[in-house]
Amino acid sequence: MQVEKTLEALLRDAPQGVAPIITAIAAACVEIERLTSLGGLAGSLGASLGQNADGDTQKELDVRAQELMMVAMRQSGVAAIASEELEDWELCDAKGTFAVAFDPLDGSSNIDTNMSIGTIFSILPAKGSDNPFTQPGHAQIAAGFAVYGPQTLLVLTFGKGTDVLTLDPRDGVWRVTRNHVQITGNSTEYAVNASNYRHWDRAVRAYVDDCVSGVEGPREKNFNMRWIGSLVAEAFRILTRGGVFLYPGDVRQGYREGRLRLLYEAHPIAFVIEQAGGRASNGHGRILDMVPKSIHQRVPLFFGSAEKVERLERLHNDPQIGSETSPLFGRRGLFRA
Ligand code: AHG
Ligand code: MN
Ligand code: MN
Repeated sequence: MQVEKTLEALLRDAPQGVAPIITAIAAACVEIERLTSLGGLAGSLGASLGQNADGDTQKELDVRAQELMMVAMRQSGVAAIASEELEDWELCDAKGTFAVAFDPLDGSSNIDTNMSIGTIFSILPAKGSDNPFTQPGHAQIAAGFAVYGPQTLLVLTFGKGTDVLTLDPRDGVWRVTRNHVQITGNSTEYAVNASNYRHWDRAVRAYVDDCVSGVEGPREKNFNMRWIGSLVAEAFRILTRGGVFLYPGDVRQGYREGRLRLLYEAHPIAFVIEQAGGRASNGHGRILDMVPKSIHQRVPLFFGSAEKVERLERLHNDPQIGSETSPLFGRRGLFRA
């Protein structure tokens, strides 16, 4: 009978000082999952309370998850925090050596629909009383996300690969169920909100056109599409069976840099994906090389199997695609390899 490693055992290999923070975050995720699973029994978790700092509709569960994460931050002596649900970053424990950026509840539009939602976190070295959230993504010490779905999962990396833990409902223990995940290259699945097609740039339209063209098109194979509206659910699916995720910038007001935030969504997801052998890009270069200019800065996000993301980068960097669509480089992508 296989005996799975517990989170406690896994964290013995974590960088010095990180284990208490991840342990506290994992405990907060258990509380958030409990609240999520109550659904309508916990009142109106999906009710809109107003807008958050980034102009998103703030739901009751966003606020409750934020409160639970703040308890975890205080309990584990974090030096500074940034959150999707806070206007600006905050100093916490002056003796702390790590800073944490988090999205306490990702996928809020799905709260009332019983779809998988989650929590995303990124752990960085603190910078004394200076703002620690202007470091490149590759400065992260650890990152991960929880998925509250049919299973309660914790996906985690501290730079030595990406592991998946499952919360055992029989005893409340997190157990490693997948070690050193590697993203497969042979998937024909892409995830994008296709209702935004008319707002995209030519490179993204060309990529999706080629998928939609199927076997008669330049990719010479048929594709499948998924869009859940929860970044954590899409990311876990891609870790499980490959594929690519696209949230491009588009011409809508406020969406020029897309919808996802660099600090507490793209950076942690990119760390997890790269540690699983995948790639995460803003369409031109590596997400982990980007330095946030502000806490809620948005970024176009493409991640998944390395080969698929590299194709998207080639399209974005191809001067022909950026120009007026010519017959040879039209929507059919006649000469696109
Ligand atoms: P959040 O609920 O934290 O704002 O995140 C929602 C994000 C992400 O989870 C998802 O991929 C994306 O928004 C969905 O965006 P659309 O509703 O525009 O498709
Ligand atoms: Mn989110
Ligand atoms: Mn959120």
